[in-house]
Amino acid sequence: MKVGIIGCGFIGSEIASFIDKNTNIKLIGLNDIDKNKINVLIKNLETCKSKFMEIDELIRKCDLIIESATKNVVEAILKNKNLDKKNKKLLVMSTGGLIGNLDLLKKIKNCEILLPSGAIAGLDAIKSVSGRISSLTLTTTKPIKGLEGAPYMIRNNIDLANIKGRKTIFEGNLKDAVEDFPQNINVAATLFLASKFEKIKVRIIADSDTKFNTHEIEAIGDFGVITAKTQNLPSKNPKTSYLAVLSAIQSIKNLENNVKIGN
Ligand SMILES: NC(=O)c1ccc[n+]([C@@H]2O[C@H](COP(=O)([O-])OP(=O)(O)OC[C@H]3O[C@@H](n4cnc5c(N)ncnc54)[C@H](O)[C@@H]3O)[C@@H](O)[C@H]2O)c1
Repeated sequence: MKVGIIGCGFIGSEIASFIDKNTNIKLIGLNDIDKNKINVLIKNLETCKSKFMEIDELIRKCDLIIESATKNVVEAILKNKNLDKKNKKLLVMSTGGLIGNLDLLKKIKNCEILLPSGAIAGLDAIKSVSGRISSLTLTTTKPIKGLEGAPYMIRNNIDLANIKGRKTIFEGNLKDAVEDFPQNINVAATLFLASKFEKIKVRIIADSDTKFNTHEIEAIGDFGVITAKTQNLPSKNPKTSYLAVLSAIQSIKNLENNVKIGN
């Protein structure tokens, strides 16, 4: 299998390093708008012979395309004429980028789309109860650093430095959450794609006293109540939970596993 990675920041580099050290997969293509990231990564690879590729070439030459860049790049990937081929797979980390492109996603028939559970737990159960949910809430609590620079904060002039303890800073629907917190709320997008429930309530809390990125899901329906909570330590990127990269790596491991656990 030939693999290419679009976005070689924290998640992309960790995936590249895992593939390089633990698999027989050939990582051939790397793409990032920051060429320095590519150069550093190539230097650290021990076995894979990888080089920079434009997105078009990377999609054409690779069997597995890994997106770990930004939600803004997802549309161009989905529209690429070489993507929707048999035996191709696309793994998307910036799932927020799928929300504005659901029609494009639906049109893809041949390429398999992999959406790791990322920073949350419980997606297996949520998938099972899809169509039977009457209420679905995601409550995300983050340290101040994890929310810095979000468009919502800038637009509403919220000074995070003034927040002491816990403060709810956003309550709204999925579409607004994805636009207002693009780097924070991929979990809400993945939750929607698993549940198909349109009226997800998203609550975001800033907490000056926590070190965890906490995601709590509550789904209610004729099946009962599902609650799932993860208290994630941030990675080197304060906006990204370490669990997110472990989940992406697990998706790569699944490619070689013949025992599939969970639904
Ligand atoms: N699904 C989840 O649960 C989940 C969890 C955490 C992060 N994420 C998402 O995964 C993505 C990667 O996260 P990260 O922590 O590695 O971020 P990061 O900032 O460390 O790395 C992103 C990289 O993408 C590059 N990039 C930005 N725009 C690009 C473009 N147009 N084309 C090519 N490269 C581009 C940047 O230069 C950077 O190197 C982000 O979109 C993040 O929001 C998803």
